[in-house]
Parts: sequence; C-alpha cells; structure tokens
Amino acid sequence: MIEKDKRPIAFFDSGVGGLTVYAKVKKILPDENYMYFGDTKNMPYGEKTESQLIDFADKIFKFFEKENAKAVVMACNTTSAVTYEKLKNNYNFKIYPIIQSVSSTLAKLDSIKKLCIIATPATINSHAYSKEIAKYNKNIEVYEISAPGWVKIVEEHRINNIESIIEVKNILEQVKQFNPDKIVLGCTHYPYLMSILKRFEQEEKFIDPAVYFAQNIKQNLQENNLLNDKFEYEKFYVSSNPENFKKASELFYKLKRLPQLKNV
Ligand code: DGL
Repeated sequence: MIEKDKRPIAFFDSGVGGLTVYAKVKKILPDENYMYFGDTKNMPYGEKTESQLIDFADKIFKFFEKENAKAVVMACNTTSAVTYEKLKNNYNFKIYPIIQSVSSTLAKLDSIKKLCIIATPATINSHAYSKEIAKYNKNIEVYEISAPGWVKIVEEHRINNIESIIEVKNILEQVKQFNPDKIVLGCTHYPYLMSILKRFEQEEKFIDPAVYFAQNIKQNLQENNLLNDKFEYEKFYVSSNPENFKKASELFYKLKRLPQLKNV
C-alpha cells in the first residue's frame, strides 16, 4: 500500500482573495490538511514593487517550510506574475502558481479570439498573462486592463456601496470597447464582485481561472503521490486584523473561528 502524505497543502494571498481558490480545492480534495496565510498587513499586493513582493512571498514560503507543507498554492495572481520565476527553486515543496498553471487551458478554450484579462496593476504591468498565453497560442488577441480599486472594495466590505458599483462599471465599460469573447478575472479577489459584474455583463462571459487551477493542482498532487486520505485540520493565519478577514471572507468561505494573528 502507498503511504499517504499527511503534511498540509499551504495557500497564500494578500487577504481573502485566495479563499476563492481554497474553497474549490478543498471541495475536490476533502481529505487533505490545509493552511492558509492572508497577508492582510501588506494588502493590496497589486500596488507593491517587485522587491517588496519578493520579500513578502519569501517570508511566507519560509514560514510554510517550517510548518512542513508538502505543497504551496500561490492563490494570488500578483505574486505568481511578479515573484514565481525568481523564487521557484528556493524551497523544498511543490509550488503551484495560478497564472502559469492556467494559461495553457485559457489558450486552448474553444472559439476564443479575443480575451480580456482584468487584474491588479502589478499583474498587468508584468504582462504575465499575455506572455504565458502566447506560449500556447499566438492567435489569441489578449487585452489587459487593471482595476486598481477592486481589491479594497472586497477587503473593506464595500461591495454594496454605490461608489463601488460605479468603480466596477467604469472598468467594464472600457472592457466592452474591446468586445472580448471572454473576460478573465485575473485577481483572486474579483469573484467576490460577481453580484456587481453581472449587472453590466453576462455572467457566462467571465472566467474564474481558479476552476482550472483547482483541477490542475489535484492532478499534479496525484501524479506525484502526494495525496492524503483523511482530513484532520485546517489552519488560518493573517498578518493583521483577524476580525476583518473573517467578515470579508463570508461570501466565499465561512471560518468557524477567527484566524490566528501571525507575523512571518
Ligand atoms: N488576490 C491577489 C491577486 O490575485 C492580490 C490582490 C492584491 O492584494 O492587490 O492578485
């Protein structure tokens, strides 16, 4: 019999965004142990420099190393875009970056000629999505647009405010000028905004890449014999304001108790 691997799968993001990935992975891999780190003190990542983002990610990876994680899910487009290539060989676990993991699937979607990516300023400035997609399909026209205020709308639970609705609408109006076949939510916080997004564009037009990402993670863990067969724990950590994290997360994942405050 193959020995099962009880070590946790660790997730991180600047805040509650990564829970949109976590919820999907947990659903298809219910027998795993999990850790989640929300770097709320340094949120929003999308407005940070490359060296700041490398420093944040490195500290979180080292924390996960101490916690004996078997795999780390970069449930954050911004750090996948800006830090993955620089850090990927420095640790003793598998690393799954969202953009690099989903781009081959996005590039091969049926009858897509024009794809729009909405993401944070740092992700857009890196052009990580268009570069990765071009590796698999050079015939897709990729239009990238940043939505600077959207992450804070989610973290500050302002989803139902009129100002937030206008902020979302303004970006979608620019997206519509490009007339894309599909729109990729290139930041893990954006699925929280679906109730607003679908007021201005058909829901079917939006792609949450976490759907493909979760499948991809499962398959890779399976291929590497890293799966467990019994859930024992899930642990949540944040670098500031646990109450706020619990409240902001409610739409996607109901935490049973407050996350633990942790400085890495
Ligand atoms: N949710 C992250 C992403 O996917 C980071 C957002 C932020 O903190 O700016 O890019």
